[in-house]
Amino acid sequence: MTWLITGGAGYIGAHVARVMAGAGERVVALDDLSAGVPARLPADVPLVRGSSGDAEVLKRVFAEHAVTGVVHLAARKQVGESVEQPTRYYEENVGGLATLLDAVAGAGIRRFLFSSSAAVYGNPDVELITEDTPCAPMSPYGETKLAGEWLVRAAGRAHGIATVCLRYFNVAGAASPELADTGVFNVVPMVFDRLTRDEAPRIFGDDYPTPDGTCVRDYIHVADLADAHLAAARRLSAPDASGDLTVNIGRGEGVSVRELVTLIGEVTGDIRPAVVEARRPGDAPRAVASAARAGRELGWTARRPVRDMVESAWRGWLLHHGR
Ligand SMILES: NC(=O)c1ccc[n+]([C@@H]2O[C@H](COP(=O)([O-])OP(=O)(O)OC[C@H]3O[C@@H](n4cnc5c(N)ncnc54)[C@H](O)[C@@H]3O)[C@@H](O)[C@H]2O)c1
Repeated sequence: MTWLITGGAGYIGAHVARVMAGAGERVVALDDLSAGVPARLPADVPLVRGSSGDAEVLKRVFAEHAVTGVVHLAARKQVGESVEQPTRYYEENVGGLATLLDAVAGAGIRRFLFSSSAAVYGNPDVELITEDTPCAPMSPYGETKLAGEWLVRAAGRAHGIATVCLRYFNVAGAASPELADTGVFNVVPMVFDRLTRDEAPRIFGDDYPTPDGTCVRDYIHVADLADAHLAAARRLSAPDASGDLTVNIGRGEGVSVRELVTLIGEVTGDIRPAVVEARRPGDAPRAVASAARAGRELGWTARRPVRDMVESAWRGWLLHHGR
């Protein structure tokens, strides 16, 4: 098989490309470089610059590289931006996906892996979120991921494409410093950013119905996440692969924001009390995955603890941003 990884020069895509190529899969990356960094890709993974929503580009790449499977990570991913620009998010994350799926079907490609998100669930009042927990996304971003899943499954049924949707929980860490996430959109880099500015970390709300009053999340190391993609790709590679599978990718363990901030203090050696600010609208008190289906269906479980995520993310932060 040859796998096309859309968004392959991105934070997660480059980790997926490394793991898959390292495991002997043939891989080609497609990225429009709106947020991607070519140097993240290993030398043996060719990079095509272009959009995963451009039918002409797709046709050419599929033919030139004899692509037989697609791992689709390219997307806009900022929740706040999606609230301000919903039409752009629907156009790129859903409209672009429709173009991609048409091209996939037209080229006779029969394996498709879609990068989804825990944002599809919204704010469910459960201890562990299973894949059967009702989805009620709370942002246009989450809506586009849920609509994307529907589209992937429908196209799979219509055209005989075997599909997997992976719902990632809170991704953190880096396999090596140069692969680290350079954006400041998630809690770990947001705390690093505060410390670097000589400011106290912020906690948004400490009166949630959780053990220490702060929000609880499920953090997953990006290297574990990449391994999950390899496991899903291997399942899709089976000669008799068919149907669809939707799987949570998390550790199944909750960590509170306060616990995380304390851990970041230990790792960075910069220990200072957090300032508590008002709750942010839309933050769920608790979002922790059931990881049972991933273990059962993919034979995959997360191995790396949260401390590894923080330590590796910090090394990446120091490389990209300095102290
Ligand atoms: N980072 C997280 O915590 C997280 C959590 C859940 C889901 N996801 C999903 O994982 C995927 C990858 O996220 P990431 O964190 O690596 O983001 P990222 O921004 O680092 O990577 C996305 C990559 O896609 C490229 N891209 C964007 N639009 C494109 C297009 N139309 N054509 C070609 N390339 C395009 C960008 O240049 C970038 O390299 C996204 O689909 C995101 O929604 C991420």
